[in-house]
Amino acid sequence: MSLDHIKIVPMSEEHIAALAAIEQQCFSTPWSAQSLREELEIPSAVFRVALVDGAVAGYMGMQDAGDVAYVCNIAVSPDYRRQGVATTLIEAQCKIARLMMIRELSLEVRTSNREARALYEKIGFQYIGTRPHFYSHPSENAEIYTLYL
Ligand SMILES: CC(C)(COP(=O)(O)OP(=O)(O)OC[C@H]1O[C@@H](n2cnc3c(N)ncnc32)[C@H](O)[C@@H]1OP(=O)(O)O)[C@@H](O)C(=O)NCCC(=O)NCCS
Repeated sequence: MSLDHIKIVPMSEEHIAALAAIEQQCFSTPWSAQSLREELEIPSAVFRVALVDGAVAGYMGMQDAGDVAYVCNIAVSPDYRRQGVATTLIEAQCKIARLMMIRELSLEVRTSNREARALYEKIGFQYIGTRPHFYSHPSENAEIYTLYL
């Protein structure tokens, strides 16, 4: 499928309600609209939204910490999965990160999250190690991945 219909834009107030709804659909401890809104005020936070035919399909946020950026979250609405939305978001964030002289993108993912791990591995993230009992609700290990830019 062509990816031309996916547009990546900076997150703004108009996206917050739709993104909070996607969070509810995706996670056992979803970010609230308020916590998403707070990211708009943080200079080191780089949040981008994917629009498909104008509709909010997903988002990705990262936190600039010098040489490294930490991926806070990436989520795609169940209605828009397997269309390359997450891949497009990650590629767009990588472009921004390189311009910011960031050398690595680092993230954690639940061990059982096979979809996300497949995504990261396909893009070229390298498995770094395991952080035991990192998550709660339910308790689970985190797998750490890094993409070298
Ligand atoms: C993981 C997630 C972000 C993927 O989003 P997406 O837009 O569907 O991903 P893409 O279409 O860009 O997929 C790219 C590749 O990832 C892998 N992938 C994605 N979903 C997959 C699935 N359900 N099963 C197996 N592999 C999958 C595939 O390799 C896929 O390439 P392909 O479609 O050519 O086979 C999405 O499933 C999601 O939002 N999940 C819930 C939230 C979440 O777990 N976020 C990650 C937190 S660490």
